[in-house]
Amino acid sequence: MDLSNNEKRMLKALRSDGDQTWDLDSVLAACAWNDQAHVAGAGLALADKGLVEIETVSATHWGLGPEGVKAHSEGLLERRLFDFLIASEDKSMRAVQASGVASKQEVGIGVGLLKGLGFTLEQGAFVMPSEDMGVMLVARKSFIEQCADGVDENDLDADLLAHFKKRKGLIESTDATARTWRLSPAGSRISETDLEERLQVVQITPDLLQGEEWRHADFKSYDVNLAAPTPAGGRPHPMMALIERIRAIFLEMGFDELDGDYVQTAGWNMDALFIPQDHPAREMQDTFYTTNPKSIEIPQKHLDDWAAIHEHGGDTGSTGWGGSYSLDESRKGLLRTHTTVNTIRYLADNPDTPCRVFGIGRVFRKESIDRTHLPEFHQIEGIIMEPGASLPMLVTTLKTFYAKMGYPEVRVRPAYFPYTEPSLEIEVKWRGQWLELGGAGIFRPEVTEPIGCRWPVCAWGMGLERLAMLVLGLDDIRQLYISDLEWLRSQPLL
Ligand code: PHE
Repeated sequence: MDLSNNEKRMLKALRSDGDQTWDLDSVLAACAWNDQAHVAGAGLALADKGLVEIETVSATHWGLGPEGVKAHSEGLLERRLFDFLIASEDKSMRAVQASGVASKQEVGIGVGLLKGLGFTLEQGAFVMPSEDMGVMLVARKSFIEQCADGVDENDLDADLLAHFKKRKGLIESTDATARTWRLSPAGSRISETDLEERLQVVQITPDLLQGEEWRHADFKSYDVNLAAPTPAGGRPHPMMALIERIRAIFLEMGFDELDGDYVQTAGWNMDALFIPQDHPAREMQDTFYTTNPKSIEIPQKHLDDWAAIHEHGGDTGSTGWGGSYSLDESRKGLLRTHTTVNTIRYLADNPDTPCRVFGIGRVFRKESIDRTHLPEFHQIEGIIMEPGASLPMLVTTLKTFYAKMGYPEVRVRPAYFPYTEPSLEIEVKWRGQWLELGGAGIFRPEVTEPIGCRWPVCAWGMGLERLAMLVLGLDDIRQLYISDLEWLRSQPLL
């Protein structure tokens, strides 16, 4: 049988008198322990192995309340009054009050106690009872002394207990359970040699290994299922970790990374993407326009091209949006509302080199903050421009990306964006539900022709925080940015 040293020691102690019922103190003494946790632990383990039987008895203990502590050092109120009345010539109520043996509040109670002892009040003076009060007073005093040491209810005089229970604050009870241990038949059958205590090694040290003792030692086994504290060291914010993971996936899929400025022009952010100048999303209540700079120059060539496309479709065969195009509107400064501004600028700079590029960047929209919206968030944007770039290629690329993220179920649905045709929405299945994560499509000729793109362009833009909500299982987007350390420390390493 596999027994720890404590278990061996306690079993040996109990075997010294197999018929005895052992209480805590007797086990402590027999084992030469002073920590009752040893008895509880070893006793429980021995009981689990059937070597010992435990009996639990619940008991009520009495101790002193705040008034009791006072009575213990200064004497009970009735005793103090009694002593005064014996000694004093003047036994009047007034004399008692003036004496200071009892406080103002105590006098009332004291009168009651004295009457209970047989005193009477005649014409304002106390008259001693004929029988002897001394015995009663001594009994009460020793009751208080018993309680001062803490005492089992069964060891107390029942009448006195009933009396003191009624008096406020003198005594207090606590419920305790006491255990006793007793050797079981199996415990007496264990052989003596099995009970020899051996060196128990919890931690292996160089000293131990250099000696010889370890050869006959017991090594404490590890329980890898036990709870252990989690060290809270520095670590990347979950959003940084997620961005790194997404970046790694696109790089591995052969994409280059691009970046851009937060401050852009309405021209690049919207006009270049054939977003009509009267589109509702361009209004002040949806977009943050800058006041400094209020307006930013754009090469005239682009402005002329966009004006032609917007007003009548330029050379693309499109009819455009009609109306008259405002160059000042184009020059307005704003905080970019989507990262598609990065990809369109990249294409304008590199129209005749096939490319696969992606970017992860912050965007700004005048949203009210709620469970699913933030005015600043991030998008994961990407394009493929090459001969033969097509819708199936776009869908496959997105599906591959989400599969690598751990979401193999992806579907696309028709959608509308002013700059793509066809346009689609990407949805991912999560906990049995389809969730919309972004938009995609093939850039329209109205977008690609003015900048001179040689080949079709597949483009997409997805919300990063939405994806983070899936990955981290959140139902409130704000959790990501409130710097809740408790939560941050408990997040998985992505
Ligand atoms: N810019 C779009 C958005 O912000 C996403 C998108 C990007 C759609 C590229 C089509 C093509 O939601």
